[in-house]
Amino acid sequence: MEEQTRRSLIERAESKHRLAREELAALLADEGAEEEMAAAADRTRRAYVGDEVHLRGLIEFSSYCKQNCLYCGLRRDNGKAERFRLSRAEIVALAEKAKAAGYPTVVMQSGEDAWFTAERLAEIVREVKRLGLTLTLSVGERTRDEYRLLREAGADRFLLRIETTDRALYERLDPGMSFENRLRCLADLKALGYEVGTGCLVGLPGQTVDSLAADILFFQSIDADMVGIGPLVPNGDTPLGGEPPGDMRLVRRVVSAIRLLLPEANIPATTAMETLQPGARELMLRSGANVVMPNVTEGEARRKYALYPGKACVADTPDHCRACMEGRIRAMGRTVGKGAGGRRRA
Ligand code: 5AD
Ligand code: SF4
Ligand code: FES
Repeated sequence: MEEQTRRSLIERAESKHRLAREELAALLADEGAEEEMAAAADRTRRAYVGDEVHLRGLIEFSSYCKQNCLYCGLRRDNGKAERFRLSRAEIVALAEKAKAAGYPTVVMQSGEDAWFTAERLAEIVREVKRLGLTLTLSVGERTRDEYRLLREAGADRFLLRIETTDRALYERLDPGMSFENRLRCLADLKALGYEVGTGCLVGLPGQTVDSLAADILFFQSIDADMVGIGPLVPNGDTPLGGEPPGDMRLVRRVVSAIRLLLPEANIPATTAMETLQPGARELMLRSGANVVMPNVTEGEARRKYALYPGKACVADTPDHCRACMEGRIRAMGRTVGKGAGGRRRA
């Protein structure tokens, strides 16, 4: 792209937070735009959400999944996946520890495990909420009534990535799942008053920059409160095991573009990024991101929850990661968020 065009697009994104799909796609395609986009995104991050980095304690509580996503190690056809399911008491104990370690928010994540009916989950939600924590659920697709029950039990936020807005690609990679139902879930969650997080994968076979541009405009159109991006990390025990990993430079442009177009959103520097490129969390925190989700799961479960291989921090303890992240954040001249770090509105 010509330097003049590039500059004017980035300036407009920074001042108006709007770009057309073709403009966005052109920036995403432009390797030379990376540093300028990141600098603009970093200014926008500071202006809208400040220097605090919010930590969310991630509890991975079940590796059972009835779905069969082609990229994911927890897919039901992966006979090599080690399955585990934490008990209610174990989950609540992890939440208590997360609270004691200073996390104001915990995220409870699992595969789509039917054992955890909405009623069972709601009981756990109520117990965790009694600890005074802000609670995010990431348990996949459910009916509106189930989402309502969980919301009434006290869940504050919900994460459900759209993965890709390319409908055909979505239905090819997530066999048996419907794009329509995914949209329905996100709409129900919003309507029920959850803070809603979504996001996509970068590096899916057949995905284009045009489709990533559409993903970002989708996040904007649903007014996403949180947007999590992950590069594809090929998992040898899945059908996408032979694919190349997601391009981290493209991931960085996507993160920066999301900050420019959704200036108030919470944007995590994700574990998948760190897995492909050590140091990526800091890089992304300087390129638009403002959230990190350290794993607070302990013991065997930490290893067995294997969406992809080589997961960063898999051999570390929750206490070690908490201290490590705090040190890294301070070394960057940023601070660890004190409150629940919810969506801010200008
Ligand atoms: N590489 C990167 N991210 C993955 N996810 C699942 N499998 C992989 C993989 N191989 C992501 C999906 C899902 C989230 C919980 O993990 O985007 O929404
Ligand atoms: Fe299950 Fe989620 Fe993995 Fe798909 S991405 S197989 S729904 S855990
Ligand atoms: Fe896990 Fe640094 S955050 S070791």
